[in-house]
Amino acid sequence: MPISVHRETATFHLYNDQLSYIFAVREGYPFHLYFGARVPDEPHYDYLMREEWHPSSVGVSAEHENMSFEHYRSELPFSGVGDMRLPMLEVVTASGGRVLNLTYQSHEVVAGKPALPGLPATYVEADAEADTLVLTLADEVAGVRVRALYTVFAGRAALARSMQVINGGTEPLVVERALSGCFSFEDTDFDMIQLPGAWARERSVVRAPLHPGLQGVYSLRGHSGHHFNPFVALARPTATETQGEVYGFSLVYSGNHAMTVDVDPYHSARVLAGVNPETFTWPLDPSESFQTPEVVAVYSADGLGGMSRTFHSLYGRRLARGVWRDKPRPILINNWEATYFDFTEDKLVEVARAAADVGIELFVLDDGWFTNRDDDFGGLGDWELNAAKLPSGLAGLADRINALGMEFGLWIEPEMVNPGTRVWKEHPEWVLHAPGQPLRPCRHQYVLDLSNPAVVDYLYERLEQVISSANIAYIKWDMNRSFGDVFSQTADPADQGRVWHAFILGVYDLYDRLTKRFPQILFESCAGGGGRFDPGMLAYAPQAWTSDDTDAVERLKIQWGTSLAYPVSSMGSHVSAVPNHQVYRCTPLKMRADVAYFGTFGYELDATALTDEERAEVHGQVSFMKRWRGLIQFGEQYRLKSPFEGRGNECAWMVVAGDKGKALVAYYRVLQEVNVGRRCVRLAGLDSEARYELREQGVDPQVADLYGRPASGAELMRIGLELTDETMGQNTTGRGDFVSRLFTLERVE
Ligand code: DGJ
Repeated sequence: MPISVHRETATFHLYNDQLSYIFAVREGYPFHLYFGARVPDEPHYDYLMREEWHPSSVGVSAEHENMSFEHYRSELPFSGVGDMRLPMLEVVTASGGRVLNLTYQSHEVVAGKPALPGLPATYVEADAEADTLVLTLADEVAGVRVRALYTVFAGRAALARSMQVINGGTEPLVVERALSGCFSFEDTDFDMIQLPGAWARERSVVRAPLHPGLQGVYSLRGHSGHHFNPFVALARPTATETQGEVYGFSLVYSGNHAMTVDVDPYHSARVLAGVNPETFTWPLDPSESFQTPEVVAVYSADGLGGMSRTFHSLYGRRLARGVWRDKPRPILINNWEATYFDFTEDKLVEVARAAADVGIELFVLDDGWFTNRDDDFGGLGDWELNAAKLPSGLAGLADRINALGMEFGLWIEPEMVNPGTRVWKEHPEWVLHAPGQPLRPCRHQYVLDLSNPAVVDYLYERLEQVISSANIAYIKWDMNRSFGDVFSQTADPADQGRVWHAFILGVYDLYDRLTKRFPQILFESCAGGGGRFDPGMLAYAPQAWTSDDTDAVERLKIQWGTSLAYPVSSMGSHVSAVPNHQVYRCTPLKMRADVAYFGTFGYELDATALTDEERAEVHGQVSFMKRWRGLIQFGEQYRLKSPFEGRGNECAWMVVAGDKGKALVAYYRVLQEVNVGRRCVRLAGLDSEARYELREQGVDPQVADLYGRPASGAELMRIGLELTDETMGQNTTGRGDFVSRLFTLERVE
């Protein structure tokens, strides 16, 4: 994946087999030329950059009045030059102004991909996996230097961008806006796709044509949020799941973000992504620097599915880290919906024993194990064991769970504090709070100031003690409130603008230290369900609790939307009891499992309350998942039928092994329809030349053998998998509301 630099034309071409990204330096400024499907490596593409007169546009210089930042597409738009759109970089210089003039100074091509200090980022395991262009721009008058990083990956249709802003002068500067990347398009014939939501209905798919002006998503909540995931895609209006051009943009960041698409009156579109400037001001003394997070851009010529599979493989293999990255995830049972805060040690052990009997591998003790935590009004911050509830201590409980042949996992919520705790009393200055102003609660709790390194040190020491006190194999790291009144009581007035971002750097630091200290532990991130389901978290915790909504029907949409950017292996998905605790719906145990299989899989119910029949069914589900989880979590996912289309009554997806030898297909129908015609779903990703043994799970093989022979990959992909109800014969399990059908495919050699 070379980075080709044509010195004579100052043209830079980053490319691999699937994409090209081209820009050139003119009059000292880097201007974008092209991003899309691979094109030849020509010495220049200057015809894309013609000088044209436009009334009221500001020229780049007296000699080039017809060349304006407004009409040329700046690679790194900065403030004060008549660009007329939102910039990537805005700096208040020693003069008090914001006028910058950053010009090209030098470049360097390095093999591999440099790490971003203090920030999560995609990485390579060998230099041959990527090349990085480091472009240096400077403005000697303002004292600003910028190092812009562009990484192009080998074999992946993906680029990563970030930048470092350096005070290269002798006077203090204030950075007011430092975004991660800018992507320009010379037309606007796109739909913007985003993943909006709210608590318990995260990441729905919304698609709308671009319109003139500003559109996009952002967070001001202190975390990436349930509401607007740090992801947008631009899809050609004709692009579908399987074909057409799609560009995906995903910010590797967990705090306040802004991802905008700016459509100007000249029909060009600018995508910007980065830390939300609204809550960001970063003073820089001479020689100090600021590093932005990175934004990942994916190009797909194969529709949304192609875009997602590029994100899945990059994020699953080269963003997630640690021993669990490539390992099938343990099947767990979590006691939250089983007991909430109301448990005893013996009750937990009973639940665990019932779970162990059906083959579940990990018991997770959720919220409520520490002092003053019998409801959500108290307890967060001290992390002292509640000995009345757990007389054997965490170590004793873990031993009892281990004796059942299960691993033990624990819930924590490090970033929060409740009034009345020891830490609250001893360190009131550790709470984010502007003195004299109201202290505003959310879930009765307040936010610790992780922008203060002393707080991070305290949490590290406290949690290190807790985690090393017992045989803990898994940690669920929760975060249950959005922020309002952000003010650090220990920071200088001039540094208050840093606090939102510095808080997230503190979270990353704590994650980094704890995951390094406990490399064998599987971390799962969580934020009131999926309120911080973002690429930044995935770098530390390879899986995340997708949503507090565990209803199978709701989960179809949530998991479908999440899969636009995130791999199956990252999605925490559990079978819960009925009536469901969020929507009070009763769905069959089979459907609940058939949905939860497409994630990390587990249970969130009182296993002692299962009937004998249910216990046998759960045992079968656990055995099935153990056989198939390698494929499910590490195969390639193809979405087949969207719950966001039509009336949303049906959904189907599948995963296919890398060698196409095996696949698993799931079809879901919410409500039974009457007197409808033939129904089939076209499969994808199979070997069209191969034949597959097709088995429907839970259906008599004779009845299910609809083809009477192994089906060919070609017919399954071109004609489709027959799903008409009558194919069920006398079997009534596929009839009625809330039906799910699961098919395994194995290549016949
Ligand atoms: C929110 C999480 O999403 C739930 O799974 C549970 O852990 C609760 N917090 C506990 O307070």
